[in-house]
Amino acid sequence: MTERLTRDEMQRIGKGYDPVAARSLSINTDCYRDPKFLQIEREQVFHKTWQFMCHEEKLRKPGSYFAMDVQGQSIVAMRGSDGELRAFYNVCKHRGHELLKGEGKTRFVTCPYHAWTYNLDGSLREARRSELIENFDSKDFCLTGVQVETFCHLVFVNLDPDAGPLAEHLGPMPELCADFPFEQLEVKRHERVVVDCNWKVAFDNFIEIYHIATVHPAIMRWLEVKSFSVDPLKGGHSYLRTKRRNGNRIVEDEARVPDGAHDLYQSYAINLPIFPHVAGGLDAGGFSYTVFWPDGPNRTIIEIPFYGAISETDEAYWDGLLKEAMRLLGEDMELLPGVQRAMQRGRIKDVPLSYHERAIYWYHEEIDRRIGADKVPADLRVEQVLAPYAIG
Ligand code: FES
Ligand SMILES: [Fe+2]
Repeated sequence: MTERLTRDEMQRIGKGYDPVAARSLSINTDCYRDPKFLQIEREQVFHKTWQFMCHEEKLRKPGSYFAMDVQGQSIVAMRGSDGELRAFYNVCKHRGHELLKGEGKTRFVTCPYHAWTYNLDGSLREARRSELIENFDSKDFCLTGVQVETFCHLVFVNLDPDAGPLAEHLGPMPELCADFPFEQLEVKRHERVVVDCNWKVAFDNFIEIYHIATVHPAIMRWLEVKSFSVDPLKGGHSYLRTKRRNGNRIVEDEARVPDGAHDLYQSYAINLPIFPHVAGGLDAGGFSYTVFWPDGPNRTIIEIPFYGAISETDEAYWDGLLKEAMRLLGEDMELLPGVQRAMQRGRIKDVPLSYHERAIYWYHEEIDRRIGADKVPADLRVEQVLAPYAIG
């Protein structure tokens, strides 16, 4: 059953917003702890927005596939023998068994249960003993497709058949990183971390730099925090940029930089939060995408694929980079469960957020618009309750 927000709940989550971010107050704690909110987010956000799957490198060859769970829906993307990239519900049309797991390469898709076999374009190739079934027409049993598109060699899927194109969702983002050499990258490492907090507690932390000086003092050696700027982009995304200091060991080593990496990425650390739950870090030495998956209202699975230049094959270098990244992540992970406990107790209320946390408002406003805008009376529509964010 589709969950709905009540009028009271809609009013509560909107409380505290102000057209001027500097006057806005913290996000209502119900959004971080109530299972009903999570259910609504799954239905209205995760199942209706473009979801990051993987780098295109995993789906380059005909027959390659990549399967993943999108908040309760198993999805598989496949490259057909005709070179076309397609995505489907990863569910057999016979009695619903999951078809493929993980990633790999195949010529046909054979269900492990009763061996119905599908072509890579989703059409049913063979159903054992179907000649014994009256009026059986294989055309009636093609896999159900979902929208799939790429942006900068990254593959995204959307479960909503009525959703607009990926380019529309991303707005100016492709242009902002058009000169980044995504095509020269491959996955070097992949980490998965589980943390006891709501997915938005974790994501909020990744889109603000207010905590950098206090929680990650080591980073202060190579970031000019005073140079920080944040541009909210249409659709809940944002573009965060901080100038580097000399001495960043990644940038110092020219050999590690992919060909064509623009000077911009050598001078700035750039974070590109993509709505609803991906924080991308662009760096002259490579690129990481941190993806936050809700696993219940108080638990989050964080997936971090680290990408680097295909030409850089020094395993010790990647091990060192990963170790440093995981050390930093560990500093965040220690804090987040404590924030969640305060949310659970309802201890955080009407607190102003700083300039360095402004992306948080922007992003929550988009969530609230998506979970409530068309489900409440006109006088309580998000446009009225949540005034638009104003920069400055
Ligand atoms: S469930 Fe797939 S063949 Fe029976
Ligand atoms: Fe952090």
